[in-house]
Amino acid sequence: MRRKKIAAGNWKMNTTVPEGVKIVQDLGEGSFDISVDIVICAPATHLDALNQLELPKNILFGAQNMYHETHGAYTGEIGAPMLQSIGITHVILGHSERREYFNESNEMLGKKLRTALDHELIPIFCCGESLAVRNAGAQNNHVIRQLKESFGDLEGSEIAEIIIAYEPIWAIGTGETATPEQAQEMHCDIREFLRSEYGSDVADYVPILYGGSVKPANAKDIFAQEDVDGGLVGGASLKVDSFAAIVNSF
Ligand code: 13P
Repeated sequence: MRRKKIAAGNWKMNTTVPEGVKIVQDLGEGSFDISVDIVICAPATHLDALNQLELPKNILFGAQNMYHETHGAYTGEIGAPMLQSIGITHVILGHSERREYFNESNEMLGKKLRTALDHELIPIFCCGESLAVRNAGAQNNHVIRQLKESFGDLEGSEIAEIIIAYEPIWAIGTGETATPEQAQEMHCDIREFLRSEYGSDVADYVPILYGGSVKPANAKDIFAQEDVDGGLVGGASLKVDSFAAIVNSF
């Protein structure tokens, strides 16, 4: 079976609720290949309102983060049951901005993965290297280590529920994109890691998205790569025209 095609938008800390509602309503009026899952990862304040809009079935919503504990004295955090209670299906975990500014470690992300899976939330698990790591030629080891350390002892059947997003940090918000060949090389290595640890059924099933300055001008070439199953899009997901063009780039 061909893997799912996914265009995910990460709005980061952008838009007010009315602005976000307008973007999603406009997007909902576009015509898209319904075999593409469109996953909008909006700020937590927006998710309930967005998820109540009348929309095509392939427009889904995700949170950008979640705490590994489900409830309790953790001021400012959001628990998986809260997201579940408003019908949210996806959650980004381990974005490089969370790793950098909020000190999220591979070990902590392992706990978040466990909690998300226990609550039937589909994790969009981010990995990726800095420019210094790439210049040292250590990017593949770095990314595989991120996955290994966070996946811990999850079962293959659980790994199969995860979406992986490879986002080289040097390409995020910089306008510099990995070449399609660089993306393919890393995605292929990630898939081979999945194959050796969890078997071919899991490796051939898990979608691997590319993120980092995806735009209408480069999406087609990147999505055409054998092991690239879609994109996790930042800036270009905030404009309906550009995000719609990316969704239609498969
Ligand atoms: P940009 O598309 O703005 O480079 O952001 C990528 C990203 O971080 C998506 O999670």
